Amino acid sequence: MQKLAIQGGAKLHGEVRISGAKNAALPIMCAALLSADELHLSNLPDMHDVATMEKLLQQMGVKISAVAQGATFNAANVDKLEAPYEMVKTMRAAILVLGPLLTRFGEARVSLPGGCAIGSRPVDLHIKGLQAMGAQIHIEHGYIHATAKRLQGARICFDLVSVTGTENLMMAATLADGVTILENAAREPEVVDLANCLLAMGAKITGAGTDTITIEGVRNLHGAAHRVMPDRIESGTFLVAAAATGGKITLTEARADIMENVLDKLREAGAHITVDGSRITLEMTARPTAVSLRTAPYPAFPTDMQAQFMALNTIAEGSAVMVETIFENRFMHVQELRRLGAQIEVEGNTAIVTGCAQLEGATIMATDLRASACLVIAGLVAQGETIVDRIYHLDRGYEHIEAKLSALGAQIRRIK
Ligand code: UD1
Repeated sequence: MQKLAIQGGAKLHGEVRISGAKNAALPIMCAALLSADELHLSNLPDMHDVATMEKLLQQMGVKISAVAQGATFNAANVDKLEAPYEMVKTMRAAILVLGPLLTRFGEARVSLPGGCAIGSRPVDLHIKGLQAMGAQIHIEHGYIHATAKRLQGARICFDLVSVTGTENLMMAATLADGVTILENAAREPEVVDLANCLLAMGAKITGAGTDTITIEGVRNLHGAAHRVMPDRIESGTFLVAAAATGGKITLTEARADIMENVLDKLREAGAHITVDGSRITLEMTARPTAVSLRTAPYPAFPTDMQAQFMALNTIAEGSAVMVETIFENRFMHVQELRRLGAQIEVEGNTAIVTGCAQLEGATIMATDLRASACLVIAGLVAQGETIVDRIYHLDRGYEHIEAKLSALGAQIRRIK
């Protein structure tokens, strides 16, 4: 199993290019299933989840040809309408093939994801929404088996905000008969990026980015070219790493307008941030101040940045109250941070972090994707060497993270 060895203490300095967003790339790749024509995607990030999604689509019969920093997807000859357990258990986003397969081919068989490290994460809202559109759905042998002659437009109000739930139903509705209205829809920028790709393919969608999305079904979608948006979570992760180490970095090809909340929290921690077009520069000259936060759906503070801010708070001045409202078990990094000397109390979905002057390096274990990023940041500031074990989680969702950190001056290497 691969590990990262980090020698703490180096301040991050320099420029880093932000990759395409994982959480935009995955649904947009599934959108290729909606058309028999070619979909050209650029700015696809080079990471395991994208490779897993490519493998899944190829198993279904999608032809994929790689081009520089992108790929062309051709779903003219899809012959297997199934996402097997082996794929879905390693990447929950595989559930995103359900809506496109069902709406274009009238059938889909997708494994239920099962539990994962950060909670039970059910997909009941995806299923209920498709049923409201007329799909027949049976759960058999751990699989969702869905059939429909042609999905019918419907008014669907989500019980709670679901990002992939919104994306799955939005894709399903593009080829449905009639108008679908999604209420209490996710407003995440990745939903907007998917909608933009679908619009380029000929879909009729209004309201993406608000809580009400209206989709008028069409008979066919056509080929298109789309550039995947920058990753706001990768952006935030590098900025927190720079703030924690007291460095100065500039992100290039980033977008400040979709991460206002994260930038505000970094300012509250004492960082100086300037934005110049697609360049975001952060400079930290003093010890950070602890920042309290509460995760919630966009545009509030993202759950995918909670762990990284916890790493920052462990070495900050003062104490912070961090409330996780999206996932029930997303404090797995707390135990590991404690092994580095962090002072954290957890009560239910609330963590109270009291900053200490210095963390001390130790061997720690990554438990999920964003928890891994948190541990890397902790390793960058801890005294001595930190070994982060089980970094396959990190490789799932960050493009070349140790190369990018090394280029910024971090002392980090992969042990194979
Ligand atoms: C997406 C992101 C993930 C992010 C999360 C929240 C992708 C590929 N992943 O995950 O990085 O952390 O949004 O911003 O975009 N829920 C149900 N029933 C459902 C669906 C969801 O109860 O059918 C619950 C979940 O358990 C969770 C909450 O709703 O408590 C939000 O989950 P959701 O927005 O669906 O997360 P994902 O789309 O899986």
